[in-house]
Order: sequence, then structure tokens, then C-alpha cells
Amino acid sequence: MIIPEKPEIPYENLQMIIESAFNGLKIFNILKISLEMKIFDTLSHEHTLTELSSKLGMDNLLCFYILEALLKIGLVDKTGDFYQNSKLAEIYLKSDSEYNRTNCILSLEENAGLWNSLDQTLQGNLERKEEAFFPNIIQVMAEDCIAGELQETVNLVEKYTEFHDSKSLLDLAGGHGMYSIAFSKINPDIECYVFDLPEVLVETRKYIKKYESNVKTVPGNFYKDDFAGTYDMIFSSYNPGGKNPDIAKKAYESLNLNGLFVNKQYFPENENKTLEEVLDNLEWNFTNFEKSLKGETRYSFKGDLSFQEYLDYLKELGFEVIDVHHIDHLNPSFGTVSRNKMIIAKKVR
Ligand SMILES: C[S@@+](CC[C@H](N)C(=O)[O-])C[C@H]1O[C@@H](n2cnc3c(N)ncnc32)[C@H](O)[C@@H]1O
Repeated sequence: MIIPEKPEIPYENLQMIIESAFNGLKIFNILKISLEMKIFDTLSHEHTLTELSSKLGMDNLLCFYILEALLKIGLVDKTGDFYQNSKLAEIYLKSDSEYNRTNCILSLEENAGLWNSLDQTLQGNLERKEEAFFPNIIQVMAEDCIAGELQETVNLVEKYTEFHDSKSLLDLAGGHGMYSIAFSKINPDIECYVFDLPEVLVETRKYIKKYESNVKTVPGNFYKDDFAGTYDMIFSSYNPGGKNPDIAKKAYESLNLNGLFVNKQYFPENENKTLEEVLDNLEWNFTNFEKSLKGETRYSFKGDLSFQEYLDYLKELGFEVIDVHHIDHLNPSFGTVSRNKMIIAKKVR
């Protein structure tokens, strides 16, 4: 048999794709085991390899390579024989840090499971998840926003005089309630109410207690229930109904005249331009069931309006759109970059 000519395209072109994919998997698992074994808690203080491996009960050589990998990705520093957390790990990976992101990272394991059994996932053979959010998702959202988006959002909102003049604020689908907790710290005269599903509010109350806040909770399903009164302000962040005209109408009806409706949302636009967007959209559809209210594009739901349609609808209802702020953050639950918009609309009639 004749040996074929060398192919016209080098195999390295393919191998590079495989390498980078597989290295991502290795790094994710190193990060996961490091969190599970509390390596970043231990490395808050300097340790030699032997000190660390004996504390963790890990083989010395394997521990060496894990540490060297963490060093290469910038999560550990090395001075002489001593390893210690880098600043990045110290802020975000130490379990007692107020910016700890352990839940954000470990929550990705569930998504990893869907990818690891892609044959089953593509056939829809998954444990059918309800659309309701589970307690750990609330923790993930809280951890995520506290690392910057919360402060950025609150700084923007407090620039509006209407916020300082408000006596009541409804945090629609407020989840953890961190936004309300922060608003009421800045303006103690404002009564904040977190509206969410009853089972979620159990978690909300834990955050209210932790931050010694007087924020109140209102149980309800925004698709079925009204918002239990009228408010001077309605705030909503990544609310699954945040692009839905019926929910916008309910917000309008529950807002006092001259009140602000602040709505922070991901509005899909020019989707699928990058590989990351395609992967996100594919993953979003892994759990898009017949009865689910999810739309076909990430973070979208059935009946959603496009950004322009939503703005037009707000005006039709009787809002003046005062500002649109762009908020760009990486999102842990859904992956990669999301380009979010925060609409500030005032009820003028
Ligand atoms: C992505 S989380 C956003 C949480 C928080 N506002 C934030 O931005 O971090 C979406 C929230 O919507 C709530 N939610 C979903 N469907 C709901 C419904 N039908 N009625 C009330 N709340 C709902 C969830 O329980 C969850 O707390």
C-alpha cells in the first residue's frame, strides 16, 4: 500500500483546537478540586509544597503539579519554596472573603454534566428542571452581583433625585434581595420590598438578616399575581419577565405617578457572532422544554419584546425613557460576556 502524501493542511490546525478545549477541562477541574480541598483557604498563609501536601493528605508530586498549574494561571504566587494565594485568589476564592465566588464556580458543574453527556442531553434525556430558581442559584446570583455589578448599579440609581424622593421600592424578582438591601442602606427613608416566589424568599430572608436590613418580602408569582400595592419605584434585575409586555404593564399599574421603573436586562442583539455566544445559546436550549417559558436565545423567554419594541411599549404605556445605561459583566450562570442594558423610565402619565 502506498503511503499517502503529507496532507495539504497541517494536522496541528486541528490539534490546537483539541488542546485548547481539553486544557480548559483540566483547568476547570483543578480549580474545582482546589476549592473543594480548600487550598485557597490554606494558602492564605505561605506553605511549602511538603507542608501543603501533608495538610491536604495529597501525594507530594501531584500536589506539586497542581500548585504549578495554579501558579501558571495566576491564582498562586511562589517566593522561593513558598506558595501563597495571588491577590486574585485571595479576593475571590478564599471562603471567608466577602467577594467569594465559590458557588459561582461550582455551580458550573451542573452545566458541565449536561455537556459531558451530550448524547443524552441532545435527546432531551435530562432530569426535568422546573423554571423556579433553587437556593444555590440565589447564592450564585448574590455572589456574582456583590463582586461589582451591585455597586455599579446602585451608584447609577442613586444619581436620580426620584430615588432619594421615593418612600417605597419594589424589587421585582429580587431573589437574594441584595439590591434592596443596598438601596435601603443608602436611603434609609425608602421601604424596600423584595417580590419573589415564596420558596425563594426563604433565602432572601437569610441575606436580609445577614446584612441587618429592614427590607420586607412579598411572596408572589409575577405572571399570576399583582404586585401587592403601589410603589414610588420599581426595580428589576435579570427578571425572566423583564422583557415581557404584560409584566411591564403590571409595573406601570403598580407605580405611582412620577415614579421610576428601573429595569436591568439582557436584550439579545446580533446573537451568534462569536463561538462563545453560539455555545451559550446551545446550552440555554439544553433545558428548553415544551412547557418551559424559555425562548430560543439565551436569557430570553416566550413573549419577550426586542429592545426597541420594549422601549416603544414603555412609551405607549405612559413612561418617558430617561436613560439607558450599558452594564457589561461576565455572567457565571450562563457563561461569557453579556451586554446588559439598564432602562430608566419615568411614569409621566
Ligand atoms: C436571574 S434571578 C435575578 C435575581 C436578582 N434580581 C439579580 O439580579 O441578581 C431571577 C429571579 O426571578 C425570580 N422569578 C422567576 N420567575 C418568577 C415568577 N414567576 N414570579 C416571581 N419571581 C420569579 C427567581 O426566583 C429569581 O429570584
